[in-house]
Amino acid sequence: MRKTFQIAIDGPVAAGKGTVSRLLAQRLGFLYVDTGAMYRATALLALRHEIDLNDEDKVVALLEKSKLEMRNPLPPKELDGRLTTVILDGEDVSWAIRTQKCGIGASKVAVLSKLRKTLVKKQQEIASTQDVVMEGRDITFRVLPDADLKIFLTANLQARAARRHTQYLTKGMNITIEAVTSEIKERDTRDMQRKIDPLRIVPDAWVLDTSELKIEEVVDLIADKVQKIRNRNTNE
Ligand code: DC
Repeated sequence: MRKTFQIAIDGPVAAGKGTVSRLLAQRLGFLYVDTGAMYRATALLALRHEIDLNDEDKVVALLEKSKLEMRNPLPPKELDGRLTTVILDGEDVSWAIRTQKCGIGASKVAVLSKLRKTLVKKQQEIASTQDVVMEGRDITFRVLPDADLKIFLTANLQARAARRHTQYLTKGMNITIEAVTSEIKERDTRDMQRKIDPLRIVPDAWVLDTSELKIEEVVDLIADKVQKIRNRNTNE
């Protein structure tokens, strides 16, 4: 029988999955796994090596030759606002993968089925050895279909665009809200219409709309639910 506790969170871009998952993991003492960061790191690798993002075999071969590590940020140096630490071949790329270019690149490499298989396997290995809050686009139905709690975290387009816009401005990027909205729409379309494992809501997922909620309220709601599941598990 599986011994780890698994929380699987899916949802569209900029729905607040990262911040919510990080805070939830911190509260529960779980590992936070940002699977999008793995697709972003792959895009960064391919871009740096000037490999065509559609060339599946080359992209996978490049990833397999590289060493990708992820961990909760270590104090004091890594507590600089990041949600997770990503080390690629010994280099801290936690911020380098957060550019708009890597985000768009990630949604392109995410359509490659061999790459998805490779990353899904890595993600399943991580979740089999420790309690996790894992978030992405295919966690509830592909990576962790037997998770203890499945959540589809979402928010309306306006709220998502406003949040992502603020994030870009904080990083000093000069970009209009219109440009952010169209980037989000473009990535939603790619994530929901790709042939392999498109983003979708599974029947047993809890659909949580965060448009009108503060981050702490969302974390409280989920933590309460986790407590109920744990109580039920011990009573069974
Ligand atoms: O969550 P994010 O913006 O960092 O994700 C980057 C891209 O990676 C996004 O366009 C969709 C893709 N992705 C995916 O296909 N499957 C996942 N489990 C996580 C992310």
